[in-house]
Amino acid sequence: MGGREEVMDRLAGCSLDLCTGPLSRHGEGMKTNTAYVHGYSPQEARRLGDQADTLAALLHAGTAYAAGSRVLEVGCGVGAQTVHLARNSPGARITAIDRSAESLAQARSYVTAQEPGADVEWHTADLHHLPFDTAAFDHVFACFVLEHLPDPDHALAALRRVLRPGGTLTVIEGDHGSVLLHPDSIHAHEVIGHQVRLQAAAGGNALLGRALQPLLTGAGFDQVVVRPRTAYADATRPALVDGLTRKTFIAMVEAVRDEALSTGLTTAADWDRGIADLRLTADEGGTFHYTFFKAVGVNP
Ligand SMILES: C[S@@+](CC[C@H](N)C(=O)[O-])C[C@H]1O[C@@H](n2cnc3c(N)ncnc32)[C@H](O)[C@@H]1O
Repeated sequence: MGGREEVMDRLAGCSLDLCTGPLSRHGEGMKTNTAYVHGYSPQEARRLGDQADTLAALLHAGTAYAAGSRVLEVGCGVGAQTVHLARNSPGARITAIDRSAESLAQARSYVTAQEPGADVEWHTADLHHLPFDTAAFDHVFACFVLEHLPDPDHALAALRRVLRPGGTLTVIEGDHGSVLLHPDSIHAHEVIGHQVRLQAAAGGNALLGRALQPLLTGAGFDQVVVRPRTAYADATRPALVDGLTRKTFIAMVEAVRDEALSTGLTTAADWDRGIADLRLTADEGGTFHYTFFKAVGVNP
């Protein structure tokens, strides 16, 4: 069994690149489509792995399912969170789905290599049309998925259908409005804003974290509890500076450069200035703060 890095390298080398289609200048008439803003490139596969591993303790704390329970993970991607779900819930029977067959293939080999004893079934499926019976699962888990969907209410109704009464839904989302930078920079906030706009144009919402409580409650879930999970990195936490600030957040924003330029949202000079300022937050003397939102609700 290879180390995590070796496995992610191998996985990254065999993925596809299906970025969002062209959008128009300054967002005028930006076409809403259901493409996925981060795409499926090798770099994105690596970023998802870095993100999940760096943030595992923060995001997965409190999520452990009993042995034998039936757990559905939707939008599992390359399996970056599936590994942690399996590790923290030995004996749980996990079903992982994604609409990307290529991501799912990577997820299967990654999870098999990392957690060989894990009980995971893999399905290529759209989460709005799940090929499972009503009330088939005890728990449903979705991480960084709703923020890419044009109609999260519709998605939540589909997830509720497959959850048994009394079963739990766990949703984790980011919120780019929670970014605090030091040194602060209007140029850095502008490039982050372009990422938010491109995600919105692709039908998603990069500011979804703050809305999870009303969203889940409105979808009929009971006892909805949202716990913000703050991630903060400075020079005293070099692993977080590298894993969170550089490899998760800055890498995500940098990945939309071509699209931000081709849609006329910004110029190369303005983009590069914003990214340079963003990188300062990962240098000596810089700091970076981001809040993730983790919501748990019960199906009545
Ligand atoms: C940001 S990735 C997150 C992957 C994984 N949950 C993680 O945290 O590493 C979002 C994933 O959701 C999947 N996805 C988006 N819309 C979907 C849909 N309608 N049905 C199933 N999967 C979907 C994408 O293919 C992608 O793999």
